[in-house]
Formats: sequence, C-alpha cells, structure tokens
Amino acid sequence: MTEGTYRALVVREDNGKFTKAVELVPFDFLPENEVLIKVAYAALNYKDALSAKGHKGVSRHFPHTPGVDASGIVESSHHPDFKTGDAVLVTSYDLGMHTKGGFAEYICVPAAWVIPLPEGLTLQESMIIGTGGFTAALALQKMETNGQHPDSGDIVVTGASGGVGSMAVAILKKAGYNVIASSGKLEHYPWLQQIGAKRCINREELIDPSEKPLLAHKWAGAIDTVGGKTLANLLKACARNGNVAACGLVGSSDLSTTVYPFILNGVNLLGIESAETPRSLRLEVWKALAGRLKPANLDNMATIVPLEKIPGYIDDILAGETAGRILADLSLH
Ligand SMILES: NC(=O)c1ccc[n+]([C@@H]2O[C@H](COP(=O)([O-])OP(=O)(O)OC[C@H]3O[C@@H](n4cnc5c(N)ncnc54)[C@H](OP(=O)(O)O)[C@@H]3O)[C@@H](O)[C@H]2O)c1
Repeated sequence: MTEGTYRALVVREDNGKFTKAVELVPFDFLPENEVLIKVAYAALNYKDALSAKGHKGVSRHFPHTPGVDASGIVESSHHPDFKTGDAVLVTSYDLGMHTKGGFAEYICVPAAWVIPLPEGLTLQESMIIGTGGFTAALALQKMETNGQHPDSGDIVVTGASGGVGSMAVAILKKAGYNVIASSGKLEHYPWLQQIGAKRCINREELIDPSEKPLLAHKWAGAIDTVGGKTLANLLKACARNGNVAACGLVGSSDLSTTVYPFILNGVNLLGIESAETPRSLRLEVWKALAGRLKPANLDNMATIVPLEKIPGYIDDILAGETAGRILADLSLH
C-alpha cells in the first residue's frame, strides 16, 4: 500500500450523530484488496446520502467514505486482468456501503468489481452515466426482453429530474422511445425536454385518488423510481402487455395493487436490482451505454464540483433538491 495520506470524504459517528467532512487520511484507511485505483470522478447517488446519514441498511461501520460510483486509473494491481495505467470504472457491489467508496482520491477493490472503461466513453462520461444510467439501461434491457418496443407507445419516467430518472429519459430517447417525464419540479421541464422528454407532467397527475383497480390506458410502459401510489397507478393505466420497471422508493417502499393489471392486461412488473448484476450482463450493458444507448447530451446532464462541495449536495439530494447527476472531479480543489 502507498505511503502518506490522501483526501477523502469521511463520515464519522458520535453517539448516534453523523458528521461529514473532507479529511486527509492515511492509506491504511483503505481496505486491502486487489486493485488500487486513483479516482478521477465519483458520482453522487441517493444511496450515498443514506450511507452518510447512517442508514444501517446501507453502511454499518464508521468512520466511512460513501460513494457507490467511481472512475479512474489503476495505480497498482495484484490481479493479472489489470495493470498500472488502465482506465477503469467501478459501480455498486459493496463500494461505498461497507467498503470505503468513491468520494476519495483512492479506492481499493476486488478485481471482480472493476470494469475496463468501455471504448466510446471518457472517465467523466462514465460517471455522468454511473449507477443512475446503468440502472436505467438495465430497466430498458429487461423491458425490451419482455417485448417493449418504441412502436408500443409512450414510456413514463418518474422522478425524472433525479439521477436515475434523467438518465432514463435520455437513454429511452436515444433508443427511439417517446418519453413522458413526470417531475415535481416545473422549473426543470425545459431541461427535461432538452435531454429527451416529448412532454412533461406534474408528478401529482400520477396519483389517482379513486380506488379503481384499472384505469384507461395512458402509456405503454414505465421506469419508476418513486414506488407507493405512483407505482400502483403506473400499473393500473399501463397498456396491454406493457412493462413497468420498479427501480426505487423515493416516495414510498409500499405497494398496494390488485392483480387486475397482471391478469386482465398482461402487464409485467419488473424488478430492477443493479448492485449485484452479474459481470457478463454488466459488461454488455456498459457496452450498450457506450454506443447504442449513449445519450446525445451527456454534457448537459451533470453538475461537476470539487470533492469539498459533496457534503452540501448530500443534504440536497436527501431533500429532493438536486437535478441530474452530481459529480466530484477529484482533480479540483
Ligand atoms: N434498483 C436499483 O438498482 C437502484 C439503483 C439506483 C437507484 N435506485 C433507487 O432509485 C431511486 C432514485 O435514485 P436517484 O439516485 O436517482 O435519486 P435522486 O437523484 O434523488 O432522484 C429522485 C427523484 O425523485 C423525485 N422525488 C423525490 N422525492 C419524491 C417524493 N417524495 N415523491 C415523489 N417523487 C420524489 C425527484 O424528482 P422530480 O422532482 O423530478 O419528481 C427526485 O429528483 C432511489 O430510491 C434509489 O434508492 C435503485
């Protein structure tokens, strides 16, 4: 392991209270693993904010560095598949959960987690996409495996201004779909249209106050990050044989539905779990994200800041106040 210290965002626990600040830490703060990576970019996800506030379902051991997404250059490797100087990315697995994560100048991870930077993406672009884009692409891949096609009709994306949502809008557009972006932030409608939405609707429109088990068909499928009543209504108003991909729970982890969308309309409810995606599928999805599914306007989808600004953005993402992807550029001070 390297001598000296490196910069890292450190979350500390003191009597149930959590603080977060960028500190200089010794290299033995990192776990012993096969590949040491000098981080170029790390991207903020909702899960990182849960980790930073001490959510025990995400991170149990403190002091800790959150960050489920990182890209960078291999500094040293004990595994034959990687050598010093390789450009790589790591998303999810245990990174940023119980393994020190991407909001630091270095990460040290098992080789099985490391993905060679796909041809067609820069280190920065790979993190603009990151777990948000990977999850959206995984949802689309599963929907298309179940027969979704641009000719089937419109696809709704909920939480559209968020990390997963905005990437879903852009990726669906690139794949040829008409996208309805559902957002609580009217001020972001022009931006959502720039990145690929055909039209935007207020998220309140997706909450049907009636107890009807089915509604008139309004869309051919959906990528949902909200859960709860929103997800129940996406199922009720989905066209025959459409696919609704459940990715998140920013609204609620509950789901109350009848079986009618499934047994009368043949609607598929698809579960999306990105963290433990098998490596072969992971490589396939990243290849698509570097080519067929690469959004046309990635530069317009992220705010890029020094590491020192990430604590503030962690508070903002918990308050639902961020838009698009937030990246730490580790070369900035
Ligand atoms: N399944 C997986 O593998 C996977 C992977 C990554 C993330 N996720 C999950 O996906 C969700 C989104 O993650 P993210 O990183 O994209 O978070 P994010 O950037 O914070 O985006 C969430 C968006 O949801 C909307 N929203 C916030 N609070 C809401 C509420 N109370 N009711 C309805 N909408 C609300 C907001 O968008 P608008 O203002 O535009 O409505 C917000 O920007 C999280 O639950 C996360 O855990 C799952």
